Amino acid sequence: MYSLAKNCLLLLIVCLFIGCRTMGGTQETYYIGFSQCADDVWRMKMNRDMLREAMFYGNVNLEIRTAKGNNEQQIEDIRYFIEKKVDLLIVSPNTSEALTSVIEQAYSAGIKIIIADRKVFTDSYDAFVGADNYQIGRAVGDYLSLLLPKGGNIVEVCGIRGSSPAIERHEGFVKSIKGNGGDFQLLTTLDGQWNKSAAYESMLAVLNEYPNIDIVFAHNDEMAFGAYEAAKSVGRERNIKFIGIDAMHGRSNGVGMVADNILLATFMYPNGAEKILQQAMAILSGKSFARETILGTAVIDESNVRVMELQGDYIVQQDVKIEHLNDIIGAYSDIQKRQRVSLYISIVFICIICVALLGVIALLRSKSKLNKELTVQKDNVLKQNGLLEEQRDKLIELSCKVEESMQAKLQFFTNVSHEIRTPLTLIVDPLKRLINGGVSESDERYLLNLINNNIDILLRLVNQILEFSRYENGKAEIERTEVDMGEMLVKWNGAFLHMFQRKNILFNFEVESDFDCNITIDVNKMEQVYYNLLNNAFKYTPENGEIKVELSGYEDGMKSFLQISMFNSGAYIAPDDVNKIFDSFYKVNELQEGSGIGLAIVRAFVELHKGYISVVSNKDSGTTFIIRLPRSSEVDASLVADDKMPAVPDDVMCEAFTSDKLVLLVVDDNDDIRSYISNLYSDKFVVLSAANGSDGLKMAYLSLPDIIIMDVMMPGMSGLECCKQLKGNFRTSHIPIIMLTARSVDTQRSEGYKCGVDSYITKPFTTEVLSARIDNLLESRRRMSQCIIEGESSKNVVVDGGDDKECLFLDKLNEYINANMNNASIEVRAIAGQMAMSRMQFYRKLKELTGLSPNEYVRILRIKRAVKLLSETNKSISEICYETGFSSPSYFAKCFKNYMGILPNDYKHRVKDSVGG
Ligand code: FRU
Repeated sequence: MYSLAKNCLLLLIVCLFIGCRTMGGTQETYYIGFSQCADDVWRMKMNRDMLREAMFYGNVNLEIRTAKGNNEQQIEDIRYFIEKKVDLLIVSPNTSEALTSVIEQAYSAGIKIIIADRKVFTDSYDAFVGADNYQIGRAVGDYLSLLLPKGGNIVEVCGIRGSSPAIERHEGFVKSIKGNGGDFQLLTTLDGQWNKSAAYESMLAVLNEYPNIDIVFAHNDEMAFGAYEAAKSVGRERNIKFIGIDAMHGRSNGVGMVADNILLATFMYPNGAEKILQQAMAILSGKSFARETILGTAVIDESNVRVMELQGDYIVQQDVKIEHLNDIIGAYSDIQKRQRVSLYISIVFICIICVALLGVIALLRSKSKLNKELTVQKDNVLKQNGLLEEQRDKLIELSCKVEESMQAKLQFFTNVSHEIRTPLTLIVDPLKRLINGGVSESDERYLLNLINNNIDILLRLVNQILEFSRYENGKAEIERTEVDMGEMLVKWNGAFLHMFQRKNILFNFEVESDFDCNITIDVNKMEQVYYNLLNNAFKYTPENGEIKVELSGYEDGMKSFLQISMFNSGAYIAPDDVNKIFDSFYKVNELQEGSGIGLAIVRAFVELHKGYISVVSNKDSGTTFIIRLPRSSEVDASLVADDKMPAVPDDVMCEAFTSDKLVLLVVDDNDDIRSYISNLYSDKFVVLSAANGSDGLKMAYLSLPDIIIMDVMMPGMSGLECCKQLKGNFRTSHIPIIMLTARSVDTQRSEGYKCGVDSYITKPFTTEVLSARIDNLLESRRRMSQCIIEGESSKNVVVDGGDDKECLFLDKLNEYINANMNNASIEVRAIAGQMAMSRMQFYRKLKELTGLSPNEYVRILRIKRAVKLLSETNKSISEICYETGFSSPSYFAKCFKNYMGILPNDYKHRVKDSVGG
């Protein structure tokens, strides 16, 4: 990242440099020095023109030094320029000889040199620009010849003698007047020093000497005016014609003086500024140039002075405009320079921002990469948390199972040890008395009988435990023999008769008249069944009570049973206990005698015979146990597939536990119906099947299916009985049951509904109706779960097939959780206790009803409450967090976002906006 930013910075600097170079242009700036000899009007005008011309070239830096007619000063100025190493030096020398040497020095120092206007005595220069002063002198002479063809007396006022124009103008003039036939007399040549006052003085000095002067020729207009003034001072100015050189525009200059008749004429003497600069640039840029540039001249007299004045005015105006434009351009140039500086600064600034931005982008990239990695890690952690939670739930389930099993076993051992104590006491104590001796013969007999009886009791108990253990492990076997059940019961009753007498119990045994009592049974097991039941009846029947046993037939549709009904006027069994008394080790209360294994064995052995047992208890009259055993013919048929467990392939059962599909249990004794329904729904469901009620019951307990389709009439346990048991058991009470039956009479239907059937479909049925019914029931269940999870009271939820018991269960649960909402650590154990269930029972029940573990369920209720508080109150997020029992605002935000898809704060704003809007 650092190297990327560094490379970008370098690139930008290079671009910036190239950009600046391009914008600034590649033209070289030339430093030009101009050594001006004097500071008179003509020279000042020349300086201005030079500066203006230089401005037309953007790359010229022109420095002018003026020597005020002083040779030493001018030499010094030139040395200054040599020292400054100017690129080019322009010299207008004051006098030729004095300046020659220093010009040679400059030239030999490598400086390009242009000589302007006046000359020097050397070739050490690059170019000369100026007028031909000899020719000008001649032009003046020629003009005089035309003006005064006969000639006249002339006074010449000369410039500085050592300057080349003075020499050349004189020579040219003399040559002309001598050669032009007229009688011209050059009376004298005065020294005018190029200035007015010197000319005045010189003129004044000779006026008396020369009373007839016709013409004064001065080498410049300034000196001509000085001579005029001198003549005027003696009143002779109208007698003399004055001629000058320079012809500068302006009232006090040459052209103005011609217009004012002070001068007869003046000759143009251009300063050549434009040419000089052109030459300088040609020399500096290596272009070809002329070594000598001679400027032209012209006479201005009364014939053309008006035009010249107008032209001069115009030129002055143009000059003013040009200078004004130059000023504007200069101002623009300044602005441009400032803008350029601003632009450079802006570019540098933008570059810095770009580099900073690149840095930020690189930082953001690396941050987002980091974030992604963090998110992946977070997801992994969450996944692991999820897995951990799942495993924790499974562990809880397992530990509950283990705990339940341990509890049951502990209870069993406690019960057994209690039950053993009594017979053991009645064995050990009589034995001690016999060993100690001194017991009468009749007592000895009594004690031995007592010992014998109690050994029988112990043996029976041990046998029962072993039998039940075999049954539990699926190893119980039955050895059937055909017996006359009436005879058997009479025999087994005999053992109890003297006991009944002792308690003055009225005992009745009745056999239905003309009833065929033959049945194939395991006599030993049925003896245990009967003994246990009768023993129980005896135990719980008070003195003077009644016990009645009836043996009869029972028809359930196509099947016939042998029914033993045993009534006792003893203890009442509450409806809640009725379905539990047959569970292993279950005891109605702690004071109850026995190990709790007796009735479990009774049911186990009855079911081994493919029969079933039920109990009806009435507070006023008493309790009746009913055993129904299939008659031998039906039993034989069902024995073919007899086993402890229903005949379901292991892989199907395994799928029921692991698949995401819903589980459908079909309980029907008709093979074709089972396979038809299985075939119909195997795409959508894992289909389990059982061929009778008893198997169906076991399979339902084992697999906890999502829906059950059940036939009413089946061998063994009927569909109605099976349904009753399933609806009576907390684990299975929520499972929707559809009854398929050929029994279409209304009373039969109402009997079915009484047993808890959710839907009744009569045979023949159509697939459409069955499928629609299945969908409706499942959807109703789902809606009920969802509505309850969504926080609606289950009472408000109209559910097809819904059960009051489930509504009450969830309402009670919600009430408890809502009351303890601010407790961050509501324990599953505590909730289960509140619901009068073991932790495991509660876990499984809730999971079946809502699909949620207790922790998930509690968390959702907390979030629902938080949503309500966020919508309806102004409480802060952290207040709501703690009020709904979350341990920290960050955990609260995470859970809220997971469930609601939005952070609590954003949700609050959204609610406010929607209210505000
Ligand atoms: C100015 C001047 C002009 C004249 C020229 C000759 O200094 O005297 O009047 O024409 O110089 O170099």
